[in-house]
Amino acid sequence: MANNSEFNSKIGIIAATVGSAVGLGNVWRFPAETQANGGAAFLLVYVICVLLFGIPVMLGEFAIGRAGKSDAIGSYRKLSPGKPWWISGFLGILCSYLILTFYMVVSGWTLEYLYQSISGQLFSPVPGVAEGSNLQFAERMEEYVAGVWPPMIWTWITVAICGAVLCMGVQKGIERVSNILMPLLFLILIILCVTVMTLPNASAGLAYFFHPDFSKITPDVCISALGQAFFSLSLGMGTLITYGSYFHKDTNLTKTAFTVSILDMMVAILVGMIIFPGVMSFGLEGESFGGSALVFVTFPEIFNRMWCPQLWSSLFFILLSVAALTSSISIAEVSIAYFSNHFKIKRVPATSLVMVPLVFLSALSSLSNGVLSDWTIFGYTIFGACDAFTANILMPLGAFIMAVYLGWFAPKGLMKDQLTNGGTIRNMFAAPVMFLLKWITPILIVIIFAASLLMK
Ligand code: PHE
Repeated sequence: MANNSEFNSKIGIIAATVGSAVGLGNVWRFPAETQANGGAAFLLVYVICVLLFGIPVMLGEFAIGRAGKSDAIGSYRKLSPGKPWWISGFLGILCSYLILTFYMVVSGWTLEYLYQSISGQLFSPVPGVAEGSNLQFAERMEEYVAGVWPPMIWTWITVAICGAVLCMGVQKGIERVSNILMPLLFLILIILCVTVMTLPNASAGLAYFFHPDFSKITPDVCISALGQAFFSLSLGMGTLITYGSYFHKDTNLTKTAFTVSILDMMVAILVGMIIFPGVMSFGLEGESFGGSALVFVTFPEIFNRMWCPQLWSSLFFILLSVAALTSSISIAEVSIAYFSNHFKIKRVPATSLVMVPLVFLSALSSLSNGVLSDWTIFGYTIFGACDAFTANILMPLGAFIMAVYLGWFAPKGLMKDQLTNGGTIRNMFAAPVMFLLKWITPILIVIIFAASLLMK
């Protein structure tokens, strides 16, 4: 496995890590969270979270991975043998698995929309809804998500595709796919953004997205923004520890973390600049469909107004499917790397061990949007609970433990050594990053949690 478990090139490292970061989190989850948490106020807190927590935590994960050269649990064990820090890696594996259960479902929706775009069905009239009505796509999505078989079958197809790519390994599977398709996704988002700006009332959407109402910044909004930052940057669950272990010894971690975080944030902001002007322009702002349907309603609306909707729609959903795939792969890789290292098994059996139970668990998650919507946990459906619990609790908790570890308990000099590649490169960020990890990240995470508990 040796030469198969390192990324091949500098650009491959960036592409695979961006591939992990950019996914449904940016395109599907970000606009839904923005809408649920007060628009521009959420965006502002989110950007602060990325800069203040996201980048240092990402550097921390890279450092642990590259120094430990193992999976999420193994790296902690190697760096601090006999100490319980590996529990952080264990929580990560648990978290990644819970994420997979609903991530596969949304990836399945994306595949369905790709299929419907190519076949043209997406743009055919919906029975019972007046043709040309703004509710056509909303109705279609609501009905689809609540169905039994179609969303479940597409979820299973996603699990199967993901499993197949994962069996091929790190370089051949993950790196190659990411290298080609990530830049293309960026390009199409820019084209859509320019198109949307020409729609009537687009400026109202931009104002909603960019002019913050500071009174809307509550502890809950902060938790959601923190959760979104971690989710979107793939942090707090060992993914980037695992990827960090595939990095070369001369990879510049700081440059990589900055590039990945900024690109990831740019994709989310571009998506917001497409969605919210679209929502205002089509008069969808008062509609009842939940945020999770947002992307699947506004994007088709926009395509419908463009020349050759089918072409744009197909292209967009191909790219979104790939973005979802590269992220799913990175989520599953956390457990696969652990199983194959720990039980000394090959990639294919390790992948099966991870993917097979998902067939059942992701089906449950899919059904919870329809027939099982009465099964609730703290008022959330199974789908919603896995999403909120992982992003808003487990990921910040994982990041908290990691920051405390790196700031106070890790072997002396580990972080500095990793950030300067053993003293071979200068790094003016090493000291501020260490300061953030030691003091700011853990303390602020605790404050945000305490504030939201006290406000309840
Ligand atoms: N960051 C990915 C996205 O935005 C999801 C993800 C979460 C990937 C956690 C890996 C780990 O879609």
